[in-house]
Amino acid sequence: MYLKYFIVLLLIIISINSWAENQGTQAIEQRISLGLTKTEKAEFLSEMRQMLASIQGIISGIGENNPEKIIKAARYSGNRMARATPKSIKLKTPKSFQEIGGPTHMMFEELVIRAETDDMETLTLFTGEIMQQCLACHEMFKVD
Ligand code: HEC
Repeated sequence: MYLKYFIVLLLIIISINSWAENQGTQAIEQRISLGLTKTEKAEFLSEMRQMLASIQGIISGIGENNPEKIIKAARYSGNRMARATPKSIKLKTPKSFQEIGGPTHMMFEELVIRAETDDMETLTLFTGEIMQQCLACHEMFKVD
């Protein structure tokens, strides 16, 4: 008479198992590798952390209604960063990567200009747009 329960239990175990396997399949790495060396990777990730710091500064600046702070934070990740990226990394990154990366730096430059005139709500919306770029690229690429 416990057979019924046993079968139900078995079915639950089987379904959890196959669910877990599906999760496993989803977790399989699908991002494109940039194949960076150890040093390039360190350099690259440090730029990334700077971008996060820029976003932090921008959001605080918006909250404090402080255009100067926004400008300063955004500048770090604009053209200055684009120029500072080591050539060896630039040569390794595929076109699809550059098509997201280039415009992202330009958007930080645009924010520098817009912070002079735009209200904080508009700047928040634009920062959200910039962060779409972060998401798009992170979804597609990994460093190693
Ligand atoms: C053109 C591509 C691209 C763009 C745009 C981009 N990232 Fe990244 N970022 C990457 C890649 C690739 C990695 C490494 C991910 C991995 O290997 O798992 C990374 C990693 C990071 C990391 C982890 C750093 C570490 O030390 O491990 C942070 C933080 C980060 N990005 C922040 C940002 C922020 C914030 C933005 C947007 C303002 C952004 N990134 C935009 C490609 C990009």
